[in-house]
Amino acid sequence: MQTLTIQKPDDFHLHLRDGAAMNSIVNYSAAQFSRAIVMPNLTPPIISVDMAMSYRKRILDSVDKNFNFEPLMTLYLTDDTSLSEIVNVSRNERVKAIKYYPAGATTNSENGVTDIKKVYSVFEAMTKYDIPLLIHGEVNDKDVDIYDREKVFIEKFLIPLANDFSDLRIVLEHISTRTAVDFILSASNKLAATITPQHLLLNRNDLYKDINNKDSFQPHNYCAPVVKDEKDRLAVLSAAISGNPKFFLGTDSAPHALSKKESNACLCPGVFSAYNALELYVEIFDKEDQLDKFEAFASFFGADFYGLERNSDKITLIKNAVDIPNALPYDNDKIVPMQAGKTCAWQLKR
Ligand code: DOR
Ligand code: ZN
Repeated sequence: MQTLTIQKPDDFHLHLRDGAAMNSIVNYSAAQFSRAIVMPNLTPPIISVDMAMSYRKRILDSVDKNFNFEPLMTLYLTDDTSLSEIVNVSRNERVKAIKYYPAGATTNSENGVTDIKKVYSVFEAMTKYDIPLLIHGEVNDKDVDIYDREKVFIEKFLIPLANDFSDLRIVLEHISTRTAVDFILSASNKLAATITPQHLLLNRNDLYKDINNKDSFQPHNYCAPVVKDEKDRLAVLSAAISGNPKFFLGTDSAPHALSKKESNACLCPGVFSAYNALELYVEIFDKEDQLDKFEAFASFFGADFYGLERNSDKITLIKNAVDIPNALPYDNDKIVPMQAGKTCAWQLKR
């Protein structure tokens, strides 16, 4: 049987939520990844180092003691983020980055930035202390087509930002378009991007058809940025398998309860991939005959960009098909994992 043994990967973009919801899902990530950049979009958002430290403790308390899992914390940027908080981040080795959400662009982003110019002084301080800026790169403008929101953000805001702050380290998160790939390729080595399993595997047909190609809306495939057309998917895929260190693994696994995702009241953007993210990524690289590129994408490039030591322990995956369950327990509800009801050709050796 074919196997793949690699250094244990890290997830450079993960939503863990909090409380009982977090307890239901955190160990899926801890089983597959050594470390994860944990997103701060809780309610209320994580806006200070003190809040990040207590959140980190709650995460560690809910991780199974068999796993050696390190949450890498982030702060949520608001119009009111103070320069003294940036100094606090620079003095705290557990907080690794600051996350920029344009206000209203996605789940729990209401407290995000309303005007990028309002936080330019924060970007100056982040540049000075070399703190990475993680960007949700979509405009939130009802006049912009939802499929164009990443492209418009890059053109209108990110290109000027990268020019104005040429020494600021920036990660454009969960890229979904050829425009994003081309922009990252043309930018300096201060810029990188994370790539999710859904933007590698799905295109927008997968929002409107079930696994048997029957017309049926698929809320569990809906996320922000929304998956795009096949040309965009192929561009993101070619970036992931290119061996270019500017592109690395970040699942953006974003759990939402089944009853919420399937209610008309909220589409709740977010694909829950943490259950089997690593297996899905390996399956994709294998299908492209690029398994030899997987370890660097999953375990080296992100750590190198963040200036972290690479992990030393190893994990093994086995090529052995497994069924993906239709739903899993989630708090007192359920959650639907990515590719529910399908099989995955690879399995993590436990
Ligand atoms: O699909 C998404 N879900 N995109 C985001 O940016 C946020 C996330 C969430 O928190 O649910
Ligand atoms: Zn996210």
